[in-house]
Amino acid sequence: MLQVAVVGSGPSGVYTAQGLVQQGQVPEVRVDVLDRLPCPYGLVRYGVAPDHEKIKSLQNNLRTVLEHERVRFLGGVRVGPDGLSAARLRELYHAVVYCVGAATDRHLGVPGEELPGSWSATEFVSWYSAHPDSLSDGFVVGARAAVVIGVGNVAVDVTRMLARGAAELSPTDMPQAALAALAASPVREIQMVGRRGPSQARFTTKELRELGGLPDTEVVVDPAELALDPAYADPSGLPAAQRRNVEVLRGWAENPHPSGTRRIRLRFFLRPVELLPHAGRVGAVRFERTLPDGRGGVTGTGRFEDIEAQLVFRSVGYRGVPLEGLPFDTSLGTVPHLAGRVLRDGSVSPGEYVAGWIKRGPTGVIGTNRPCAKETVTSLLEDAPTLARRDVPPDPLAALRAEGLDPVEWEGWQAIERAEAALGASLGRHVVKLPDWQSLMEAARTTDAP
Ligand SMILES: Cc1cc2nc3c(=O)[nH]c(=O)nc-3n(C[C@H](O)[C@H](O)[C@H](O)COP(=O)(O)OP(=O)(O)OC[C@H]3O[C@@H](n4cnc5c(N)ncnc54)[C@H](O)[C@@H]3O)c2cc1C
Ligand SMILES: NC(=O)c1ccc[n+]([C@@H]2O[C@H](COP(=O)([O-])OP(=O)(O)OC[C@H]3O[C@@H](n4cnc5c(N)ncnc54)[C@H](OP(=O)(O)O)[C@@H]3O)[C@@H](O)[C@H]2O)c1
Repeated sequence: MLQVAVVGSGPSGVYTAQGLVQQGQVPEVRVDVLDRLPCPYGLVRYGVAPDHEKIKSLQNNLRTVLEHERVRFLGGVRVGPDGLSAARLRELYHAVVYCVGAATDRHLGVPGEELPGSWSATEFVSWYSAHPDSLSDGFVVGARAAVVIGVGNVAVDVTRMLARGAAELSPTDMPQAALAALAASPVREIQMVGRRGPSQARFTTKELRELGGLPDTEVVVDPAELALDPAYADPSGLPAAQRRNVEVLRGWAENPHPSGTRRIRLRFFLRPVELLPHAGRVGAVRFERTLPDGRGGVTGTGRFEDIEAQLVFRSVGYRGVPLEGLPFDTSLGTVPHLAGRVLRDGSVSPGEYVAGWIKRGPTGVIGTNRPCAKETVTSLLEDAPTLARRDVPPDPLAALRAEGLDPVEWEGWQAIERAEAALGASLGRHVVKLPDWQSLMEAARTTDAP
């Protein structure tokens, strides 16, 4: 029997567990999927926007893996300095696969970045997704104009959530306080700003197009700004995804529909250089106009534009966090590996593996993690005969309990789900997420059947 710990229950962790139990190569593999949170599914629960119900429903596919007879979910177990050490974990299992994602945000490195009113997209996403570590509140209070820096899919999510009204948000599972705050939001103008051109934006066309369908919201693009991109005049040489983006933007530029009490402006070729204060908080963002350099990058022009904003979201990508006891490449924000096998000082570290964003970096949609996990599982199964020779305790959970850990098992998670359904019913909504550690842990420990 091979006992494997998977650390992290996001898509890469669940796809790894699935790959390990649905193969015919090694007869009996048992997998414990550990997560520091009492709830599974990683960014599918705590990142995917609440109004994207169809993508959220992927949780049902992930659920069937965690309910497999040879897979156990052990929530509320943090691997690292304040929890279970990587070294101890290694003693308890034949192999450990780290699937811990990329938990923090990248920084802009410009003056004024830390002014009140300037937030990372990560903080906003965590708040509207009810992540129990979210401490911030009041994002939109007193803000008329917002700037979102970056033109990736997270920037699109943040922009769209700022423009949504109560009618569209209430059917979602977003926490009640976030719903109330966004429903009362005074934000009327949102500018989403890219430092390069429209043909280099990272958002996908489906997500971009959705902005044009928001009720009571006008989308504005300036044809002259789009035309700074040489590919705008003739997009035929672009890859299909970029060409489609340019065509959607062209449609908005050529057929403006001025209507709605909210406005989203999509801006390009503007590089953030400073956040400017006003009355003790951010009041504007100063951008330098850029121009294409002909090699996919941009150069500054020395001309500047200040965009008024009482609210700024920096949506410039995520970043992996080092995990004590594991090697870490600080320049890439990932764990060095060879086909998923962790490398220590350039050599394979037996029994330690990675998958997902901590392996590849913070790019790719949920499905991208499936082949990534598959590669890691293939490496692990190749190593299995050697790994299985080492003695490990027969039941790692008993060993964890003996050390004072009390994981939230699947029944505990199901109790959280019931509590969220009951909260939703009491508020006249569907399911409403519990937003804090105390209510999650209280619910998890109430494991009586309904
Ligand atoms: C805001 C946002 C929205 C997105 N929306 C979409 C979308 O709509 N559609 C789409 O296809 N893709 C979307 N993505 C991309 C998708 O979410 C990622 O590709 C995917 O979640 C990465 O999977 P992962 O398992 O590597 O990491 P994660 O999903 O981040 O999972 C990591 C897990 O590890 C746990 N963990 C971390 N550290 C520890 C530790 N020390 N001990 C124990 N557990 C730990 C975390 O709690 C978490 O559960 C989105 C990404 C973001 C950031
Ligand atoms: N619905 C969905 O499918 C969905 C939703 C959300 C997220 N995701 C996925 O999750 C992953 C992460 O998304 P993301 O939006 O966080 O990252 P991303 O796709 O990497 O986009 C980051 C954006 O930030 C910009 N940027 C980086 N550094 C900057 C700086 N210093 N100044 C100004 N702009 C800067 C980038 O511009 P440059 O290109 O110029 O560097 C880019 O526009 C992506 O793969 C995404 O597709 C998918």
